[in-house]
Amino acid sequence: MEIQSERLILREYVKEDWETVHLYGSIPEFSQYEMWGPNTEEDTKNFIADAMIKASISPRFEYELAVCLKEKNLQIGGCGIRRDSESSYVANLGWAIHPQFQNKGFATEAAAALIQVGFQQLNLAVIYATCDTRNIASFKVMEKLGMQRVGKLQGNRRIEGKILDSYRYEILPKSE
Ligand SMILES: CC(C)(COP(=O)(O)OP(=O)(O)OC[C@H]1O[C@@H](n2cnc3c(N)ncnc32)[C@H](O)[C@@H]1OP(=O)(O)O)[C@@H](O)C(=O)NCCC(=O)NCCS
Repeated sequence: MEIQSERLILREYVKEDWETVHLYGSIPEFSQYEMWGPNTEEDTKNFIADAMIKASISPRFEYELAVCLKEKNLQIGGCGIRRDSESSYVANLGWAIHPQFQNKGFATEAAAALIQVGFQQLNLAVIYATCDTRNIASFKVMEKLGMQRVGKLQGNRRIEGKILDSYRYEILPKSE
């Protein structure tokens, strides 16, 4: 799959992407609110390998895509849309952008393109996203996308022994 937006290309990962993914995946603060990272080189290589396996499964139900700047052909982040199961019409969205490129609207632009594909091509009924309640940047993205906060998931995750809360946001297809 390849998706183009105004400034971005969302494309399949290739093996060589591990180096640019690792630039942010290895930063401890980058993953302070998430289960993903901080990565060793092996973790990042496994992440890419896993994304490539997901791309080869048929019928495909999980899409992990590299976010690249159109202008420079530079990989600056990642995003994903994953059905809850092969037959589900409910899917989860996720995003990550290298700190150097944050707060420029790139996560929102990438996710908006995924939402469009999710409703128009994958025929989804609901798209949702979750984030740590302290991850303001992430729930700002959800709000900018027009997603609605539908609940707080109390203690749904544990990172390094700490029990943490998340917000869940959802968006439905526009009614005709
Ligand atoms: C979450 C993340 C992907 C957002 O990427 P991004 O490209 O910077 O997102 P956008 O620029 O589209 O939007 C971010 C918004 O949050 C706002 N924001 C960021 N930090 C903020 C803070 N501490 N307080 C208030 N607003 C904040 C920005 O100002 C921007 O809003 P605006 O456009 O109204 O100014 C990025 O911060 C990231 O990669 N974080 C680390 C990984 C992560 O946590 N992923 C999410 C997992 S749920």
